[in-house]
Amino acid sequence: MTKKRRSQHWYGKLDKDGFIHRSWMKNQGFPDHAFDGRAVIGICNTWSELTPCNSGLRVLAEAVKRGVWEAGGFPVEFPVMSLGETQMKPTAMLFRNLLSMDVEESIRAYGIDGVVLLGGCDKTTPGQLMGAASVDLPTIVVSAGPMLNGKWRGKDIGSGTDVWKFAEAVRAGEMSLKDFMAAESNMSRSAGVCMTMGTASTMAALVEAMGMSLPTNATLPAVDARRTMLAHLTGRRIVEMVEEDLVMSKVLTKESLENAIIVNAAIGGSTNAVVHLLALAGRLEIPLSLDDFERGTEIPLLVNCMPSGQYLMEDFAYAGGIPAVLGELAGCLRSANSVMGKDIAHYAEGAEVFNRDVIYPFDAPLKPAAGLRVLRGNLAPNGAIIKPSAATDALLEHEGTAFVFENIEDLKANIDRPDLPVDAETILVLKGCGPKGYPGMPELGNMPIPRALVEKGVRDMVRISDARMSGTAFGTVVLHVSPEAESGGTLALVESGDRIRLSVQKGALELLVSDAELEQRRANWKPSKPPYARGYTKLYIDHVLGAEDGADLDFLVGKDTRLVTRESH
Ligand code: FES
Repeated sequence: MTKKRRSQHWYGKLDKDGFIHRSWMKNQGFPDHAFDGRAVIGICNTWSELTPCNSGLRVLAEAVKRGVWEAGGFPVEFPVMSLGETQMKPTAMLFRNLLSMDVEESIRAYGIDGVVLLGGCDKTTPGQLMGAASVDLPTIVVSAGPMLNGKWRGKDIGSGTDVWKFAEAVRAGEMSLKDFMAAESNMSRSAGVCMTMGTASTMAALVEAMGMSLPTNATLPAVDARRTMLAHLTGRRIVEMVEEDLVMSKVLTKESLENAIIVNAAIGGSTNAVVHLLALAGRLEIPLSLDDFERGTEIPLLVNCMPSGQYLMEDFAYAGGIPAVLGELAGCLRSANSVMGKDIAHYAEGAEVFNRDVIYPFDAPLKPAAGLRVLRGNLAPNGAIIKPSAATDALLEHEGTAFVFENIEDLKANIDRPDLPVDAETILVLKGCGPKGYPGMPELGNMPIPRALVEKGVRDMVRISDARMSGTAFGTVVLHVSPEAESGGTLALVESGDRIRLSVQKGALELLVSDAELEQRRANWKPSKPPYARGYTKLYIDHVLGAEDGADLDFLVGKDTRLVTRESH
């Protein structure tokens, strides 16, 4: 060891301050040698009973600790805010940046040398990564891992994706409420995150593809003993990373982010990856824009998982997981570092595909050119996105008449009106669901199909909003329209009856209304009065950036790696 460890500024001092730092820690039974200059490893845990997806993290934390002790380090577990996607109102996304602040300041304030991030449920992974990036210590991720496949009446059912399908079937009178309720207990059968390729599994996959975890971290089921082994090995590795001074910014680079964009296309990953990668890049001070996501446009869909495909994460794990996908994509990926201190290509060494119905060959993919498309035009001057792999091909080039919902309450009150003046060609528009507008940019972009149309067998329509969409959802859904309606973007000016043209091929989203008319409407437009006058939500509304900047808070962009030297006593 050449450089004085960070933790020694707490535990290595032979004075009153050192006494205080050590003595209080000793009340937990840690002996003298825990403070002898060994690497202190923070285990940043988002375990919570209110985040059921992360319920397995206590077991994994213990396994990480075993590995840390074994490698000669000193593990200290600490809790941070947890974000239960299915439990929080108005949306967990409102609190992603708050979690990131908790993580950042916890890491900065304590005497630790390296960090293991234990996350899983959708926003926990990006929130933890963002916070850790702004401090830039050696950092490695252990994900919660996916739930076992849902099983119901002899069929596999997937988190989220089948919920949307069942809900529509109930509305169409094709499924009884009794069956709907029965499916509930059979979907979530074990600890772990959604076992479709939702946002949680997408972010875990991108973490692995960016070299921020050990290989196979993304896909091993939460309850698979090999995940516990992986946690143990991660504990060993983080101690070595501290020795090597392998800080996060030496692992996560522009090349890693570009690889994440490519892998996201190949796995049919969540649209939410866009805002999370943009925000993460901002923390790392790496220039990344929506345009960079065009790198993924021509990448084929290789992984046959819901919602873009048919299988679930457990199947993906057994088929070879991310190492096998990295092997298929070898010709497309950039050279980039990993927490192993080796090029990411190392993760694919020896990887094999064990089920070609789950992981398709690059040359004979499930779908060609499956990456997210960025859309621009007068309706989205700062951009919008669509996920073609989860859309209806026939609707990707579409012109139709808008039917507008001014906000979510308007939609809920009217979507099932039998006299709603819509047909299958109509384009549904929803306002007020962006970062500031909701607030928090909820997953409401895949708005329900009007009941009158569901009963006629319509299952997809073009839908446009400033909202996000669950990674488990599907449909021809234009998302993240920016500027959002609440900021006075063109979206705020759309009226029912306007014509809108969507061309995914041209990357265009146009409101077919004259500039003069739009100017007139803009002159009459007034922002709504924010409903929050205090607290975190006010801070969020006052400072949140647009979707094209990852919806981070403006004052959190960037990092501060300075050591805090002032003491509290
Ligand atoms: Fe937690 Fe899907 S709701 S991972």
